[in-house]
Amino acid sequence: RNHKRVVDCRSDIDRMNAPFLAIYESLVPTEEEKSKQKQLLTSLEKLVNKEWPTAQLYLYGSCANSFGVSKSDIDVCLALEEPDINKSEILLKLADILQADNLENVQALTRARVPIVKLMDPVTGISCDICINNVLAVVNTKLLHDYAQIDDRLRQLAFIVKHWAKSRGVNVTYQGTLSSYAYVLMCIHFLQQRKPAILPCLQGMEATYVVTVDDIECAYFDQVQHLRDFGARNKERIAALVWAFFDYWAYRHDYANGVISVRTGSIISKRAKDWTRRIGNDRHLICIEDPFEISHDLGRVVDKYSIKTLREEFERAANIMHLDPDPCVTLFEPY
Ligand code: CTP
Ligand code: MG
Repeated sequence: RNHKRVVDCRSDIDRMNAPFLAIYESLVPTEEEKSKQKQLLTSLEKLVNKEWPTAQLYLYGSCANSFGVSKSDIDVCLALEEPDINKSEILLKLADILQADNLENVQALTRARVPIVKLMDPVTGISCDICINNVLAVVNTKLLHDYAQIDDRLRQLAFIVKHWAKSRGVNVTYQGTLSSYAYVLMCIHFLQQRKPAILPCLQGMEATYVVTVDDIECAYFDQVQHLRDFGARNKERIAALVWAFFDYWAYRHDYANGVISVRTGSIISKRAKDWTRRIGNDRHLICIEDPFEISHDLGRVVDKYSIKTLREEFERAANIMHLDPDPCVTLFEPY
């Protein structure tokens, strides 16, 4: 089937822009919510600094990368300077401190892949995860945030893709589907690849921001206020982009050989990364390179069953965008 022709012949696609934008607007957190998050961060900082005077708290994840929908939990990183710390000990102590201050549902998960303390603040109603010294996450949060400043269509697309993934149950890493972080990288990559490009490759430009974290040099152009016109030559609007995004993952991506790479702004080969066979639990059935931890495939959670689910969901979404009279409803139907 000739997809190019199929894509071109749905002439009413622009009719869907308004409803997609309305969904996007309905998901954006209010200023009130943002200020409650800041308020919680400030009160946590006070508590933490009583015990660890030089410690800093950073927001990361969706509350700081500008891809957070309304009513999300917040992710906080506690940065401690001491070189030899025992994370479990610190987390247990932190849990005690938080509990004593009337925070609710306080739980230290010291054995998780990323050990955290969970809590719920009864004053703001916000739930929060606190991890320790996960500085790479703070840096990749800034990268995503900076990409979001360049072109509004990234935020629109990523909100819709995340909303779709949550509605369809394919945003659950312990069930072998993808993290929100992976979906945002897929959106950035996709907009880097449009012709003309809607996003640049910030890591391919002159570095204006350089930090070294855990021996990984993180460097990219972060003066994004100068790039606000970057995508102006591309006139595609949100509905057409949502369609092309799903069409890409349903019918065009080369799952056997391709790795999507925001770092290079291109597709690179599995062979070049030695991601051609299963090693341990890394199966590399859908390959998404982390922009800084480049040996890390964000698709590594995907197994031979969940890859099928994922690809069926991409096809379902692409077909809805192609044929359904009311895609804004059908796309997000609960599974
Ligand atoms: N992260 C990471 N590596 C991963 C998964 C996550 O570094 N494999 C970091 C990223 O900084 C990401 C943050 O953890 O922004 C939170 O991840 P996730 O929960 O997937 O994304 P959120 O943006 O917080 O999405 P949600 O709105 O679903 O909470
Ligand atoms: Mg989160």
